[in-house]
Amino acid sequence: MSFLAARLSLIKPSPTIAVTQKAAELKAQGRDVIGLGAGEPDFDTPDNIKAAAKAAIDRGESKYTAIAGTPALRKAIAAKFLRENGLTYSPDQITVGCGGKQVLYNALVATLNPGDEVIIPAPYWVSYPDMTLLAEGVPVPVIGREENGFKILPETLEKAITPKTKWLILNSPSNPTGAAYSKDELQALAAVLLRHPHVWTMCDDIYEHMIYDGFEFFTLAQVEPKLFDRILTINGLAKAYAMTGWRVGYAGGPKILIDAINKIQSQSTTHTSSISQAAGVEALNGTQDFIPKNADLFKGRRDLVVSMLNQASGLSCKTPEGAFYVYPSCAGTIGKKTQDGKVITSDSDFVTALLETEGVAVVQGEAFGLSPYFRISYATSTEALTEACQRIQRFCGSLS
Ligand SMILES: Cc1ncc(COP(=O)(O)O)c(C=O)c1O
Repeated sequence: MSFLAARLSLIKPSPTIAVTQKAAELKAQGRDVIGLGAGEPDFDTPDNIKAAAKAAIDRGESKYTAIAGTPALRKAIAAKFLRENGLTYSPDQITVGCGGKQVLYNALVATLNPGDEVIIPAPYWVSYPDMTLLAEGVPVPVIGREENGFKILPETLEKAITPKTKWLILNSPSNPTGAAYSKDELQALAAVLLRHPHVWTMCDDIYEHMIYDGFEFFTLAQVEPKLFDRILTINGLAKAYAMTGWRVGYAGGPKILIDAINKIQSQSTTHTSSISQAAGVEALNGTQDFIPKNADLFKGRRDLVVSMLNQASGLSCKTPEGAFYVYPSCAGTIGKKTQDGKVITSDSDFVTALLETEGVAVVQGEAFGLSPYFRISYATSTEALTEACQRIQRFCGSLS
């Protein structure tokens, strides 16, 4: 019998982190590798935020804080929800965790009983199913097809709901596809949810600020106030403020749920770093000027990548509404052979051969629950993206 817990066998290490590590290993061996696997902005944290952290250190803010987050940070989050989303959460309806990831995990652990079902639109962020499994729930993937912009339809949602459904996890804009739901699309999903009062929704809005071409962002609680009491609105500083390593995520929701999340947190991490929280206050209350500037940069990169991928033989790539990912189809390469005679039978074969042949690291669609696709993170320099796309074109052109 293994010393390790049986629950470990339920989950796999994050495939996106695995790709990043594989790319790092190849680089360490001297290979020229371009990593397009990691989901983090390549920008540095803005100076005003860094200064706020330094000032907090100098003020000696090195003690434990409240479990749910400092009053100053929760006040700043409440103001953000009102300002940007039209949502009124009081500070006791807000919790702060070590990243959006921990808030999500805490929420699942705090609510799932064994066998409870969680509807997860696919392609999905890799962590949703595994976090559900760790919390003894049952992930129920629901496919958002490419022809529907990788979004789920109301009728598909309706069909997936059973008496055991506890949550729907809605991520817009999405990792891995960049798809974002319009106000009308959210309203159509809300109409289904209103008919099923036992189903709650987690809205993961972490890519809220990465939207392009005038797309207007809405979150479910804003679109359908009647659902407000069964929605957990999750967000974080990682992506919009280039603060992935600072570990600040947060959520607003009904007090009963927030208290439960805080209870779990009180017996695990206690809270995220006091210094990161002080930085978070400045991130949310300080200037927001760089957000549209970064979005402009990302839009330029998205357009470049989509256009170059669509010129690669056997690939086709939709233009997504947001986030910093594209999710091209590699269906046209399946069945073809690489120069060294390997047949590509799946998106996993495609990404492995691409990494080995051209040193470009991307993540296979299989990891996100929809094949044959792969994910590219374009949160990297324009030069690296151009070079990577040229290599992808060369690789695809070399298949026979
Ligand atoms: C969809 C989605 N949600 C949540 C997170 C978690 O972000 P963090 O824990 O860094 O706040 C990520 C990070 O990649 C993500 O892609």
